[in-house]
Parts: sequence; C-alpha cells; structure tokens
Amino acid sequence: MQELGEQMQLVAGAISREDWEAVADVAPKIAKHRAPSFTEKARIMAFLGGHAAEFRAADRLTHDAAMKMGGAAQRRDGEGVIQAYAEVQQACLACHQAHRKEFRTHFYGGAP
Ligand code: HEC
Repeated sequence: MQELGEQMQLVAGAISREDWEAVADVAPKIAKHRAPSFTEKARIMAFLGGHAAEFRAADRLTHDAAMKMGGAAQRRDGEGVIQAYAEVQQACLACHQAHRKEFRTHFYGGAP
C-alpha cells in the first residue's frame, strides 16, 4: 500500500512533465500491485467475511482504471491519462473510506 501511494505520486509528477513514458511504465505496476502474502490474504478475507466480494470489486476497479491510464499514456493522450488518474484515485478513496479504519483497528490494534 505504501508503495502504491508512492507510485501514484510518481504518476502525478510525470503528468505535470508530460512524461507519458513514465506513466505507461508505472500504470501496470499500480494495476498489478503486489498481492499480500497468502497467509495475509487469508487473514484479510477471513476478517472481511461478507465484505470480501466488495473488497475484491474495489480492487478490480483500481486495476481497470490503472490499465486505462497506461493505455492513454501509450497513446500520449494527456487528457485521457488525467481522466483515468482521477478514476484510479476515486477507486483508492472508495476502498479506503469503506475499509481502512476497520482494518487499522483490527490488524494494527488501535489508532485509526
Ligand atoms: C481493495 C481496497 C483498497 C484499494 C482499492 C486501495 N487500498 Fe490503499 N489501503 C487499503 C486498506 C485496507 C488500507 C489500510 C491497511 C494498510 O495500511 O495496509 C490501505 C492503506 C493505504 C495507505 C497507507 C499505508 C500506510 O502504511 O499508512 C496508502 C498510502 C494507500 N493505501 C494507497 C493506496 C493507493 C494509492 C490506492 C490506489 C491506487 C489504494 N491504496 C487502493 C485498501 C485499499
């Protein structure tokens, strides 16, 4: 997750430089972000229970938006990149608003 945050900052920087190659390079990394280890994933899914499908859907939304951003960057379509960037951010935000707090309290015990 930390890595995702850094990659999004990288993209924001690249957009302002119109460095579409850098965007095209990072976008798939955002889309296919490192999955948590198997045991971690099992713990997350067990904790989420009935919300697991929702969580996966949010993850897929992020993936699709990031791939779209990469495609636009390859076409050097700045408008398209910015639009897709906003979609990625919306997908990050939606999942965070729904799940971050309960995750933090459950897995890191305390301070949200
Ligand atoms: C499917 C749900 C989901 C999506 C989508 C998601 N996140 Fe997260 N994110 C979480 C959860 C849950 C946490 C809190 C647990 C944690 O810190 O590992 C979190 C925490 C974070 C943190 C804080 C990490 C820290 O150590 O404080 C950052 C930064 C972050 N996410 C970035 C992103 C970015 C950028 C995206 C979009 C590209 C994104 N996330 C998409 C679920 C998601």
